[in-house]
Amino acid sequence: MPIGIHDLSFATGHYVLEHAELARAYGVDIDKFHLGIGQEAMSVLAADEDIVTMAAAAAQPIVDRHGTGDIRTVLLATETAVDQAKSAGVYVHSLLGLPAATRVVELKQACYGATAALQFAAALVAREPSQRVLVIATDVARYDLESPGESTQGAAAVAMLVAADPAILRVESPSGLFTADIMDFWRPNYRSTALVDGRTSITAYLQAVEGAWKDYGEQGGRAIDEFSAFCYHQPFTKMAHKAHRHLAEFASLADTPNELHTAVLPTTLYNRVIGNSYTASLYLGLAALLDHRTDLDGRPLAMFSYGSGSVAEFFGATVVPGHREHLRTAGNRSAVNRRTPIDFAGYRALHEQTLPTDGRDHELPVEGSGPFRLLGLSGHKRIYQARAHRS
Ligand code: COA
Repeated sequence: MPIGIHDLSFATGHYVLEHAELARAYGVDIDKFHLGIGQEAMSVLAADEDIVTMAAAAAQPIVDRHGTGDIRTVLLATETAVDQAKSAGVYVHSLLGLPAATRVVELKQACYGATAALQFAAALVAREPSQRVLVIATDVARYDLESPGESTQGAAAVAMLVAADPAILRVESPSGLFTADIMDFWRPNYRSTALVDGRTSITAYLQAVEGAWKDYGEQGGRAIDEFSAFCYHQPFTKMAHKAHRHLAEFASLADTPNELHTAVLPTTLYNRVIGNSYTASLYLGLAALLDHRTDLDGRPLAMFSYGSGSVAEFFGATVVPGHREHLRTAGNRSAVNRRTPIDFAGYRALHEQTLPTDGRDHELPVEGSGPFRLLGLSGHKRIYQARAHRS
């Protein structure tokens, strides 16, 4: 019985900062951003948005379309958690009005977490095919101001309904796996911004591509020339192109440089203007691919997930014939296009804003436009609310 992605929806931040603003402010040649790392713009969250409001906004259309009845598990992946104990998914469960008879848990392994969630969800559905699992990947990528990572920031949440006999994508077995203990990117508990050794992370990523591909072959996976498209985790979109060139050489794929470029290009179209969204990044790439290519019915895709630290997985998936009727292309484009432009000064002010850490009550300004908002903090607790729609 096929199992996989039955529905997919994403949400991103209220604001958009163009890289042209960053380039002007820092006196950097814009080509470094547009060509060097492959980024044009980044999503920036309003003061009253966070990973929970984005996650609920991403999942709401799925619940609206399919109802809550069959969802008995919510797996939320993030590496920018808002609490060390309580799962962000429990807030989302409440905002969406999911039934009490649900298990909810948070998963973490840097940007890889959502792929773990997808695979665990598929296993749960295999055990009980009448049940569906809501998988949510939600993250805000934040680095120190004026650090090399700053230009790769971004924010998004992707929600996926994992089910038997899926309408969009059948996830295949086997997977190729790779784990290596490496400090390429990490965020100690006392920091709100990540630390990254950029060059080490690129090398570690490429080694993980090799390792996961090798294991995929040993487990009896497809030959490389069977895949119609390749979807890679994108800390910045240029990385997907680097990864594909690397895999093609390692696996002796005879494509021309132009073919290698076009196999990956459609997967980068949302990430290029949203920025890194950590756990959500690979699945934003998948959304972009499905929204921009019309020839994928019945064809196999390659998916490569990488989470610094590091864990990686390579797996195949088949696009379900007729899937285009189930996509949310218009909604996805609107999430990108309706963002409000923010200038460099506004972005910096938001970047420097921190929530109190001493238990003081704190009310946030009404600022974002998504369906849910973080009202503030009270007695060390985060308070969320569905937004009464503003005109
Ligand atoms: N025109 C065209 N290309 C340019 C350019 C210009 N004017 N100026 C620089 N470039 C290119 C460089 O040649 C380089 O390309 P290459 O990687 O193919 O060699 C690229 O732009 C980046 O330049 P670099 O000087 O290395 O930039 P940087 O010091 O700002 O670092 C990253 C770039 C990606 C390493 C940095 O942004 C980073 O650490 N990002 C976070 C990565 C991450 O999140 N990793 C964890 C998850 S995998």
